[in-house]
Amino acid sequence: MNVVPWFLKSISLLFTVLVAAQPPQPISINITGTNFLDHDKPISSFWGQTFLKENIPYIDIPNSNIQDVYYYRWSSLQRHLRYTIVGTGYILTEFMKPPDYAEAFGTIDAAAGHQIDEARWLRSKFYNDDYIQAYTRGPGNSTQYTHWILDAMFRRSQVTGDSHYATEQLADMARLYEYWNPVYDSQAGLFYFTPNFDAQEYSLPGYIVAPGGGQLQLDGPNTYRPNHNAYMVANARAVAQVAVQAGDSATAATFTKKADQLEQAIYDRLWDPSQNFFVDVIMPNNPNLTKVMGREEVGFFPYRFGIGLTSQYANTSVQELFDPQGFLTAYGPTTLEVRNQYFTATKPSDYCCYWQGQSWPFSTAHTLKSLAAIYRSGNTSVTAEQYVQYLGKYATTQYKNGTPYVAESHYPEMDAWSADTPNHSEHYDHSTNNDDVLTGLLGIVPRSDDVFEIDPIIPQNWTYFAIENLAYHGHLITVLYDQDGTRYNNGTGLSVFLDGSKVYNGNGADAQVAFPATNTASSPVPVNIAANPNGNGSYPQASATYTYTTDDPYRSIDGYLFYDSIPDNRWTNYQSPNTNDTLQIVFARPRNISSISLALFSDVARGGSVDVPAAIEIHGSSGLLANLTSSFLANDRNTFYFAESETTFVSVNMYKKPNVWVGICELEIWTQPQIIGPYYAVDAFLTDASVSQDTKASATTNGAVASTLSAGAVVAFSGIQSAGGNGTLILTYANGGSDASVEITVNQVSQGNMSLPGTIGSYTAATMSITLAAGKNFVNLIGGTSDLRYELLDFTI
Ligand SMILES: *[C@@H]1O[C@H](CO)[C@@H](O)[C@H](O)[C@H]1NC(C)=O
Ligand SMILES: *[C@@H]1O[C@H](CO)[C@@H](O)[C@H](O)[C@H]1NC(C)=O
Ligand SMILES: *[C@@H]1O[C@H](CO)[C@@H](O)[C@H](O)[C@H]1NC(C)=O
Ligand SMILES: *[C@@H]1O[C@H](CO)[C@@H](O)[C@H](O)[C@H]1NC(C)=O
Ligand SMILES: *[C@@H]1O[C@H](CO)[C@@H](O)[C@H](O)[C@H]1NC(C)=O
Ligand SMILES: *[C@@H]1O[C@H](CO)[C@@H](O)[C@H](O)[C@H]1NC(C)=O
Ligand SMILES: *[C@@H]1O[C@H](CO)[C@@H](O)[C@H](O)[C@H]1NC(C)=O
Ligand SMILES: *[C@@H]1O[C@H](CO)[C@@H](O)[C@H](O)[C@H]1NC(C)=O
Ligand SMILES: *[C@@H]1O[C@H](CO)[C@@H](O)[C@H](O)[C@H]1NC(C)=O
Ligand SMILES: *[C@@H]1O[C@H](CO)[C@@H](O)[C@H](O)[C@H]1NC(C)=O
Ligand SMILES: *[C@@H]1O[C@H](CO)[C@@H](O)[C@H](O)[C@H]1NC(C)=O
Ligand SMILES: *[C@@H]1O[C@H](CO)[C@@H](O)[C@H](O)[C@H]1NC(C)=O
Repeated sequence: MNVVPWFLKSISLLFTVLVAAQPPQPISINITGTNFLDHDKPISSFWGQTFLKENIPYIDIPNSNIQDVYYYRWSSLQRHLRYTIVGTGYILTEFMKPPDYAEAFGTIDAAAGHQIDEARWLRSKFYNDDYIQAYTRGPGNSTQYTHWILDAMFRRSQVTGDSHYATEQLADMARLYEYWNPVYDSQAGLFYFTPNFDAQEYSLPGYIVAPGGGQLQLDGPNTYRPNHNAYMVANARAVAQVAVQAGDSATAATFTKKADQLEQAIYDRLWDPSQNFFVDVIMPNNPNLTKVMGREEVGFFPYRFGIGLTSQYANTSVQELFDPQGFLTAYGPTTLEVRNQYFTATKPSDYCCYWQGQSWPFSTAHTLKSLAAIYRSGNTSVTAEQYVQYLGKYATTQYKNGTPYVAESHYPEMDAWSADTPNHSEHYDHSTNNDDVLTGLLGIVPRSDDVFEIDPIIPQNWTYFAIENLAYHGHLITVLYDQDGTRYNNGTGLSVFLDGSKVYNGNGADAQVAFPATNTASSPVPVNIAANPNGNGSYPQASATYTYTTDDPYRSIDGYLFYDSIPDNRWTNYQSPNTNDTLQIVFARPRNISSISLALFSDVARGGSVDVPAAIEIHGSSGLLANLTSSFLANDRNTFYFAESETTFVSVNMYKKPNVWVGICELEIWTQPQIIGPYYAVDAFLTDASVSQDTKASATTNGAVASTLSAGAVVAFSGIQSAGGNGTLILTYANGGSDASVEITVNQVSQGNMSLPGTIGSYTAATMSITLAAGKNFVNLIGGTSDLRYELLDFTI
């Protein structure tokens, strides 16, 4: 049998499909779906409409509150998709501009599970492919906060239908799980962590151990918590399920055992029969594992992971959600039960995050998923009306000044956000909403087999709903539910359309519809070589002939793409005296380019004075590349194509319209991804190293090399494609000083040191045995001296 390895198939795909260098689009972009709903009006008030039209499933429900927030949340998610570097691609940020404590490229693992859950419904797979890989292969940090990334990774494969992505990373998944071993207490059979890094500062354990105040209250003591331990059960089960798909029964058995034992320990040690609730157990000075008195919202989290769904554990505890002395408030649920002595409905203004009362989208999202799971278990008296009551409460919470909005925390009783710092908290991405609308309310039950299952949680009096062009297992699915056929004029009952054709019709709102399998594997997508997440001083470099005081040319290539006035994410020439101004991007080495994408800023509709240009000229090393006078899309991406040209810079010369100026939120240059080596060191992400030009170097026509390395230098090559296996790493370098050595890490694991003997400044190749994983690898050269210069990195496997 002639089996073509998947990555070679991808290479042929690359040359057959990706002819134009354009921003990556969903694989399903050319599938014709259906057109029952208006695809313009629901998104007419948002910026970045091209992205929204290409990526979101449309819905139609008899609750305008939930529906309006649904569309808003896609626009808010869009703001958090940040392009980082070639090879790593996109990540999702928590804050539109990440805070100091964020890790690589602005990632924070605390809510990565929520972000993956939400983004799995975008038609473009590459966002989550990239983001998950930032944790599994690097450079993300998956031990900063507790998380359920592995669980989200597996459940996401049930939406894409692509199990290969996860099975290829099975070893990484197991490794990420084992990273938590240092905080596993084998005596208790539970994991512990400080509530702060469980994303729950100022929570109940912090008050109980330090009632007087002080720093300890914020962090809280190490605590065995129902949420963290439930995350780890779910993560272990995800590793086990992916292991089954990979045919690795030993790993499956190991992780199933871990999951079962941990789940049992949750029942044995964290279930308090006297409170009928999963509660915290504080670790220090508590040899008898005495339980905390007081119910916290984290006690609801286990259910969504399939833990405690029997009547014994669920039927009494869930009533607390509907008890005003429990968690029921106008804008709840609350993070701590109202009757607790430490509960407060307000919070001090000195700090964002008090999780002893405030309503928090992060926790609400978990609780809504648990409520859906509890309802579906059939083991309690919860009704669909009660579920929709809570989803509606969540939607009502997500408003500000009459418009959908999400910030950090909300007062439980007052119609106001309690943590909403200007230039910081806007559109905070630390929760799901649309995943709950799609999997809770509208009942899509993602599965690994080729079956579309729908089991909505809708009130008795709903007579219609629709989901249109939902990407599922490589297909586009539309669901119409129309009790009397008058809403959509396409028959009565439930109809399911696959890629535009009706494949099911039946009475009732539930269905399971089998469909043909299709190719769901990811193929390489174009890369943006203009992005620079490092800031001024590294390449590519941005400059402009005029820049308004509070704007910055660098913001046009920082990888953030959103069109808000605040935070400021743009370059503009506002108040420039010139009729035209030029924004220029300089590359570290000559590049072949054939298009440019400009995300043009316009605030004239908001009362400002910046609008799209009247005309744009694009120049490169060979002269004029494009001369554009067409009408340009405001607050959207405009892509212009030209004949491929080699250039070391791109100049965008913009002519303004009368009485207004011009602005760019992001300038992108998309090119084909590099599938095979050699890789240029100047394309790598450089920390404590920089780019210089060396006449002795020959890899590039301008002699660009990575140089001025310090002992703390990191030269990070991302997206190194491999079929996986043992081979040789080959580094072309020069060393003008004494013998040196650098450490090589692959996917954040050390593979030892490589010697780089002195070469009196001439370029030569050094080699080292190396093991690469299948798929994309993150290879770092760590350490160095100022005498070292790197040209090229290559691999033979
Ligand atoms: C979609 O169709 C267009 C026009 O035929 C083609 O250029 C493009 O490559 C196709 N995209 C995909 C992802 O198949
Ligand atoms: C991850 O974050 C934790 C907590 O800040 C830190 O101790 C650890 O060194 C970080 N790991 C990596 C790989 O950066
Ligand atoms: C733990 O339990 C034992 C036996 O019930 C009891 O003697 C001891 O006082 C308890 N210790 C603490 C710290 O409560
Ligand atoms: C409901 O409870 C029964 C036993 O009480 C149990 O067998 C079943 O698994 C529960 N349902 C779920 C979804 O856990
Ligand atoms: C759940 O509890 C309610 C009382 O709150 C009771 O009426 C109902 O029968 C219980 N349901 C189950 C399945 O145990
Ligand atoms: C917003 O915050 C950034 C730093 O994150 C700061 O540079 C900028 O001046 C702030 N802008 C406003 C309007 O406060
Ligand atoms: C369904 O009933 C609820 C409760 O009476 C009501 O608030 C809602 O507007 C009704 N919805 C529809 C679609 O009739
Ligand atoms: C139902 O919608 C499908 C897809 O748009 C269309 O092909 C079909 O003609 C419609 N059927 C009726 C009865 O209108
Ligand atoms: C980047 O450099 C420009 C000058 O080229 C300067 O105006 C701007 O403040 C710098 N931005 C940052 C973030 O340092
Ligand atoms: C304006 O456009 C002219 C013609 O291309 C060019 O020579 C000049 O440098 C531009 N001025 C600025 C400030 O960019
Ligand atoms: C671009 O086109 C405009 C209008 O056709 C023309 O006036 C201008 O000279 C052209 N620019 C260049 C650099 O050729
Ligand atoms: C790669 O080499 C290591 C030892 O360095 C060995 O344990 C492993 O089995 C080898 N893997 C393959 C795929 O040959």
